[in-house]
Amino acid sequence: MTKNTAAFDDWLRTRFVEINSALEKIYWQQDDKANVEFVGEQYKHQLEHEGNEYISKLLAEGNTDEGFDSAFDLLGNVGLFMAACRRHEITEPSRETTSPLVEASALAMHIGASIGVTPRFATAHLTTHNKARNGVYKRFTDLPDEKLFIDFNTKGILAYKRAADALLKIQPLGVSHPLAADLLKVAKQALREVIESNNILYTQLDTDRFFYCVRPYYKPYRVGKEIYRGANAGDFAGINVIDMLLGLCAANEPSYSQMLVDKFLYMMPEDQQILRESMRMPSIMDDFLAAKNERHSVWFQEHLRLFIQVCKLHGDTAIGHHNQLVSKFIAQPSQHMQQQHMQKVTASGPPLHALLNSLEQLRDKRAAAKRADIRTRYADMQQLKQWIK
Ligand code: HEM
Repeated sequence: MTKNTAAFDDWLRTRFVEINSALEKIYWQQDDKANVEFVGEQYKHQLEHEGNEYISKLLAEGNTDEGFDSAFDLLGNVGLFMAACRRHEITEPSRETTSPLVEASALAMHIGASIGVTPRFATAHLTTHNKARNGVYKRFTDLPDEKLFIDFNTKGILAYKRAADALLKIQPLGVSHPLAADLLKVAKQALREVIESNNILYTQLDTDRFFYCVRPYYKPYRVGKEIYRGANAGDFAGINVIDMLLGLCAANEPSYSQMLVDKFLYMMPEDQQILRESMRMPSIMDDFLAAKNERHSVWFQEHLRLFIQVCKLHGDTAIGHHNQLVSKFIAQPSQHMQQQHMQKVTASGPPLHALLNSLEQLRDKRAAAKRADIRTRYADMQQLKQWIK
């Protein structure tokens, strides 16, 4: 870390958190908690001024070539600053055609383009690649609700990644390999942990605190002239690796491949690589269907049973995400929100009903639900279940 990078990082872990937390306190006391206009102006000014001062020094320093990790980390720090400015409406993408944070934009674009990711903060910056100091990792505020949210996003992501790793290891062995059973068991356990972790989030996260004080930091913002969609916990390869290796979703389906194309640059380069490779792999479901003639053998019966359990658990994670998390923390509070704030609700930008519709389709594909309007593996799953003795 250079001196300037370290100074900016220290500021982000201290003053930045103090200012955001002070602003959250002010917003929270209002009748209309979603209003951020004409309140706490002094704090907003400090945030912008202090952040810009650090950033102008970093921009002048230029490419210090400290390696990928520090470049990615610095991009995250600039991104957290830009996201906070967006949250407090120091910047507002629909008001502007280019980001008023000129130096921060230049620095973010320089780094993002040079390491092959979007020039904004991504989920990995707050979750899987967020270095703790003395037990405390980087956050926007000191609110316990934000910590709970990030802790359990990280837990969920890490568990999905464990499941994906196990399924990837089946690929070179083949489904009939004796060790495929062990790997399916690992995937099962990991998916159970996703469900457990999401259940804790569902029961412990405070809806209003999340909706009014945490989620707004994940809104889209402008870098230079482009608007980049908000970060969400899905921006890692593992979830899609599981979808495709199980065979529940296919890379050659337009809506699914569209989603993959859109998310590539929001992921770490190592995840981009994994996702690319898994898009070219055959699915385990197709391997079972192709091994029809061996369906009476011991390996087939044992492994298929485990495979079906893994699919069921993966579907359950998606059902929980949609019917519990999205419903309780996004859809329901949006109904009570004052109309003038409505267009700002989702992190990715599309209107809420469109977003909910596409998340519902993903849920039903993952659950292999019976649907006439979209392609799911319902019929194939029924066939496989019939083969179990
Ligand atoms: C995407 C809500 C926690 C996994 C999304 C989206 C919403 C959402 C609304 C659509 C993207 C957007 O807003 O633009 C929530 C809420 C959560 C939560 C309210 C908790 C309070 C999690 C956790 C995970 C997760 C813990 C597990 C790692 C995903 C995935 C996507 C996604 C994979 C991408 C779409 C997909 O492939 O299903 N989430 N989420 N989410 N979220 Fe969550």
